[in-house]
Order: sequence, then C-alpha cells, then structure tokens
Amino acid sequence: MDRLTDFNPDWMQQYVAGTYGRLPIWLERGQGSFLYDHHNQRYLDLAGGVAVSSLGHSHPELCQAISKQASTLMHVSNWYCIKSQAQLARLLVEEVVQIPGKCFFSNSGTEANEGMIKFARRYGITKPNVNGKPREQIITFQGSFHGRTFASMSATAQEKIHANFGSLLSGFTYAQYNDNADLISKINDQTVAIMLEPIQGESGVIPATPEFLSSVQQLAKQHDLLILLDDVQAGVGRLGHMASWHAIVDDTLFQPDLISWAKSMGAGFPIGAFWINARQAQLPDSLPLCDLLGPGSHGSTYGGNPLACTTSLNALNIILRDQLYLNAATQGQYLKTHILSLQSPFISDVRGLGLMLGVVLNPETFATSLEYQKSKLTPSIYFTKKAIDHGLLVVPAGADVVRILAPLNLSSSEAQLAISLFQKTLATLSNS
Ligand SMILES: Cc1ncc(COP(=O)(O)O)c(C=O)c1O
Repeated sequence: MDRLTDFNPDWMQQYVAGTYGRLPIWLERGQGSFLYDHHNQRYLDLAGGVAVSSLGHSHPELCQAISKQASTLMHVSNWYCIKSQAQLARLLVEEVVQIPGKCFFSNSGTEANEGMIKFARRYGITKPNVNGKPREQIITFQGSFHGRTFASMSATAQEKIHANFGSLLSGFTYAQYNDNADLISKINDQTVAIMLEPIQGESGVIPATPEFLSSVQQLAKQHDLLILLDDVQAGVGRLGHMASWHAIVDDTLFQPDLISWAKSMGAGFPIGAFWINARQAQLPDSLPLCDLLGPGSHGSTYGGNPLACTTSLNALNIILRDQLYLNAATQGQYLKTHILSLQSPFISDVRGLGLMLGVVLNPETFATSLEYQKSKLTPSIYFTKKAIDHGLLVVPAGADVVRILAPLNLSSSEAQLAISLFQKTLATLSNS
C-alpha cells in the first residue's frame, strides 16, 4: 500500500466523522474564481468556502508569500516577538478599523469570539454593578451564529445548534435582532455587553438596520455595556468597506468596542483575530480598554504564528492595494440587480450588501414541482444541488435562502457568467 497515493472514495464515510451532510463532489484544484472536480468539471465558486476565499483560489502573489514564509519560519511561540504579527496588527488597527486599539490573534472565528466573550466577562468583574456584583450577562440575538465551541455556541441563539449538548455556558440573554424595544427590555444591572453581527449570515443574510446599530450604541453608552461586533463572515471588505459597519452607518453613530474576524482575512489560511478599542473606560489605573487583559490572561499556541500572519498580511495588502472592497460593492450590486431582473417565480428577493448576498427562494413555487416534492429537500438544498449540475456553487442558509459569498476579486465577466448559470438553474427548476 502507498499511503500517499492510494485512495478509496468510501474512506470519507468510513473514516471521517459524520458531522457534515456533504454534497457529492470532490473538488481537487482551484484557479481564481473557479474550482475543478476530479473529472475536471469546472464550477464558478460563489460559495468561496463560506466567505473564506477572499482572493479566489491559488492567487499567485499569495502562494508565493506562503511558500517563501513556509520555507523561512512557520511557527514560533508567543513567548517571543513576531514581526508579521506586529505588522498585521498595525494594518488591522490603522487601515481596517481606523480607530486606535490592539489585536489578539487566534486560529478561527469561534476562537476569536471566545476571546471577546472572555474579555466581556473580565470587564464585568472589573466594573461590577451598583451592588458590587460582577456583571455577566451578554445579550445576543435570535438567528445569530457565533461558532461551535461552548461559549460561542451558547452565544448563538439557535436551538438547533444547542440541541443535545446539555447545559450551555450561562450568561447569555437572547433578544430579537433589529428590535430596539426588545433589546431595551433585556438590559438589566447584570448586563455587560451586546454581541451582534452586522449581517446575520447563517440565518439567511439579514442586515442590521442603521437605526438598530445607532440604538445599540446609545444603549451601550447609557448602561456602560461593551459592543462586541462579530465580523467573522462580513469583515475585511466583503460588505464593500474594510470596516463592515461603514456599509450601514458611520462612526459617529456606531463604534464597536471589540471586533472579531476570521474567514476572508486569511484568504484560505486559518487565522482569526479580535480587536479592542483603546478608548478610556474608567478602568483602574486609567488603563485604556485595550489593556484590560494583561500577561497570562489569555493565549493560543498557534494564534499569530509567522506563517498565518504573513499570509493574512499579504491577503489584506492585496485587498487594500487593489481596492477589492470597492469591487465587492460593484459586483454585489450587479449580481443583486441582475438576479432580480430574471423575474423568476422561484425567487422572491435578493438582500444583503456587497458580496454577502442572500437569494430568497419562494417555497410555494418549489412546492409546485413534482421532482422537488419527491426530493424531500428544503428549497435551499434543492437549489444548491441543481446549481451544481450547471457548474455553480452557492451556500444554503436556512431552508429558503442561498448565499453568495464570492471572492472579492470576482471579475465582471465572472459576474455575467454567474447570472447565466442562475438563469440555467432556474430554467431546470421550471421544467422539473
Ligand atoms: C458570523 C460568524 N461567527 C463565527 C463563525 C465561526 O467561525 P469558525 O467556523 O471559523 O470558527 C462563523 C462561521 O461561519 C460566522 O459566520
């Protein structure tokens, strides 16, 4: 047996834990916005590895940077100083957020969120309520998604994510998204933070309204609450701005205290981070907020290693240099307008910002198809499978929405191709 070349497709079932319902294609290589399977069948990748592949696949500059760094230095411990970590932190503070602050590096989105949650807990102990009790309650929102580790899963207000895992981490209160009155009703003297996504992705691409974000800001100020922005899916350019919330409101109306990122920042290489505002928050010794966690309070063996940081530094440099956030806004608007102009009875809306779009499917039209009825699938899974037959990859979000999370460097001709592949997929649905 040759361990490196022998292969049997049954091994996926036999040896890999069954935590995913996988689509039956084997993707073997990628080039730009296209993926190719083991039969060399080509797919236009509007899924982007669920918002990860911000520069598409095999971006030559990025591959060169990774290979150079891999053969120079992959890993050293955070016991030592790491040049690319410092460079990446500067870039995130000065060119992404553009508000003074500091960064902590992790390996994924859920870990970045764990860090923000730990930070909020520490804040609630440092600044207890009027009775001297630590504040532990973090308000999150129905339909949110923050990750699969215990704190992030507990922050996620979705029953299906919690089911059959026993007791959750205490200290989360769930409010209705975009509902100011409900948010107000959930704030009490135990509350320490509000954690939210600028667009809820997993539950169907639902953007926060400008009014809601500015009211979050006002309430946070009034009750001394931290605002934790989960930008794991929407961050670093996807919504048309490097600072995601600028696609919805400006800094005078909303400014986060902490922000988590992952996905697009590594362009395919695992990395996550959270940023902490340097504002004064009446902490002991007049420490700025970003210095609340001192040595020994939090850590990660791999987080911020030279290979991950160099990759992310190069990826973000390309996004900034080539203004790919503007391209995301342009191509996103094109896709939105042209999908809507297909006037398909299978589609009731297209919502979202930049290249984070939700194509809202119409379950009633799907129900008229005999083939669909027999499939017993949700409209989103059914559509996703039919699109694959036409060489198009999209991501289901809930039962009735498919997401477009394309590379930020999607070209105009690729966006045109996307429309024609949508059209072909919709034509097949009509005939089934
Ligand atoms: C908004 C949001 N937060 C957190 C996560 C978790 O990120 P990861 O899968 O990298 O742990 C995701 C993943 O989809 C996400 O979309």
